[in-house]
Amino acid sequence: MADEKLVKSRRRVADHGEVFTPRWLVDDMLDLVKSETERIDSRFLEPACGSGNFLVPVLERKLAAVQARYGGSDFEKRHYALFALMCIYGIELLPDNAAECRENLAGTFARYLKTDAVAAEAARTVLAANIVQGDALAMTDAAGDPIVFPEWGYLGRGRYQRRDFRFDALTQRSAASGTLFDAFEEHEIFTPVRTYPAITIDELAKESSR
Ligand SMILES: C[S@@+](CC[C@H](N)C(=O)[O-])C[C@H]1O[C@@H](n2cnc3c(N)ncnc32)[C@H](O)[C@@H]1O
Repeated sequence: MADEKLVKSRRRVADHGEVFTPRWLVDDMLDLVKSETERIDSRFLEPACGSGNFLVPVLERKLAAVQARYGGSDFEKRHYALFALMCIYGIELLPDNAAECRENLAGTFARYLKTDAVAAEAARTVLAANIVQGDALAMTDAAGDPIVFPEWGYLGRGRYQRRDFRFDALTQRSAASGTLFDAFEEHEIFTPVRTYPAITIDELAKESSR
């Protein structure tokens, strides 16, 4: 797009390498993993997510898949749309970019479900946890604590499961493959730092105002 703004300031480019990716290039790159982008439950993490130039199109593709599969049922459409959002993760160093990224994803989600204010609030709870302001290299959040990401699952009948894992532990996942740890089940190596009771959209929406 001709009016896409890919640089905010020369200072930010020099200090943080902040140059945003144009939409045409994002689309070409996502097409390289097309089937994954169109799978509702595939998980995407962008460790330098900016304002969401990759994550927003991923969400759009997932929502198109939700529409194709569950568009005939308001209940399923609503719950799978939120689940699609739950599978999108980002880390961003700069607070304004992290906030913009959450806003852009929230806007895309809200436009899809139109008048569903409760789902929009639930989405804000999810985004507060999934889009972390922090340092992806140090794997720490803005407070200097280890980054923790929620793993969301959809249990069906309107209920979600949440377990939290440390990002630094998750990055060891590939290191375990091809070693003696292959003999273990994944849950024996990777333990959540917290497991939550099953939760509904209404309950998630209430959490956003806390
Ligand atoms: C080249 S821009 C890309 C932004 C986005 N991925 C895109 O393609 O439009 C790099 C982004 O990474 C952020 N960044 C720089 N160092 C980072 C770090 N250590 N951890 C997380 N984000 C970082 C910058 O603030 C900037 O928004």
